[in-house]
Amino acid sequence: MNAPSITPLQSELITLHPALADMRRMVCDGMRKKPRQLPAWMLYDAEGSRLFEKICEQPEYSLSRTEIELLEKKAAVIARALGAGVIVEFGAGSARKVGPLLHTLRPTAYVALDISSEHLQESIKTLQRQFPKVPMLGICCDHSQLNALPDHPLLRGQRLIGFFPGSSLGNFEATEAIVLLRHFRKLLNGGPLLLGLDHPKPQARMEAAYNDAAGISAAFAHNLLRRLNHELEGDFALDNFTYRASWQAEQSRVQMELISKCEQLVTVAGQQWLFNAGESLITEYSIKYLPEAALAVVAEAGWHGVQRWHDPADEFSLHLLKPSD
Ligand SMILES: C[S@@+](CC[C@H](N)C(=O)[O-])C[C@H]1O[C@@H](n2cnc3c(N)ncnc32)[C@H](O)[C@@H]1O
Repeated sequence: MNAPSITPLQSELITLHPALADMRRMVCDGMRKKPRQLPAWMLYDAEGSRLFEKICEQPEYSLSRTEIELLEKKAAVIARALGAGVIVEFGAGSARKVGPLLHTLRPTAYVALDISSEHLQESIKTLQRQFPKVPMLGICCDHSQLNALPDHPLLRGQRLIGFFPGSSLGNFEATEAIVLLRHFRKLLNGGPLLLGLDHPKPQARMEAAYNDAAGISAAFAHNLLRRLNHELEGDFALDNFTYRASWQAEQSRVQMELISKCEQLVTVAGQQWLFNAGESLITEYSIKYLPEAALAVVAEAGWHGVQRWHDPADEFSLHLLKPSD
């Protein structure tokens, strides 16, 4: 396969963000659920992405630091195991984690997918300055709904290497996670997937990680309401909702929610909604996977684990997956 020719520092952004009408429908569907729950990706507008980066810096939230250290330490061996091709990162965020792989693997190109358009654009710009020789492409989209990767010169005819760090798979409930991994398998067209997953930890640690003392996680959740007010003509009174993160051991997940402090009527997405006092709006889940549980889920989705790398305390795994057949 020949490397596609592209002028360095010409990173491009393709925008396939869900339309407002689709967001409106999804919000109405989520508000009708019992308990109410909105898709986790809605947390990520420009401000949500900025707040998420701050969460990663909080002392209670070790996930990002652990994964970055692991990637830095094992980059050479991981790069060898992944082989050559184009790196396709799902939910790239700040795109900080791919750096060690770009150094060692020297991919033909780097393609970053993320729902948060402005943040994605900034992340790629910064990364492109660090790696001027790697052609880069950003795709702003909901990766769970992308039927196919765009027909683009950087992708055409290339071997694709998936990268899905940050334990973002944990935002999807068990059956949805299987659907998503099946979907990634199709998008990657026979290529491998490097999947970063956080392990369960004691309740106090889990709850502190998702409800930091500085209140950034709470601000991140409240920002969802601000976003809905701004984009979908909402009138949520932010002060009328309290944030809570609770560890649910049976489901091995942290549930994050906004709880209504009082009975209140809220308008959003063209409809009125009654919240009872104490009623919750789930903003996201974060499912934590022990390695065996992760391998069971990936097997259901048509992948098998080839290798696993972990930090010294074995609190986080990077799984190298290959299609099963
Ligand atoms: C938990 S953050 C992880 C960010 C980064 N990968 C990391 O490990 O630090 C999840 C990222 O995925 C993006 N995201 C969430 N749901 C998405 C979806 N359905 N499609 C595309 N991007 C999504 C968010 O905008 C955010 O940047």
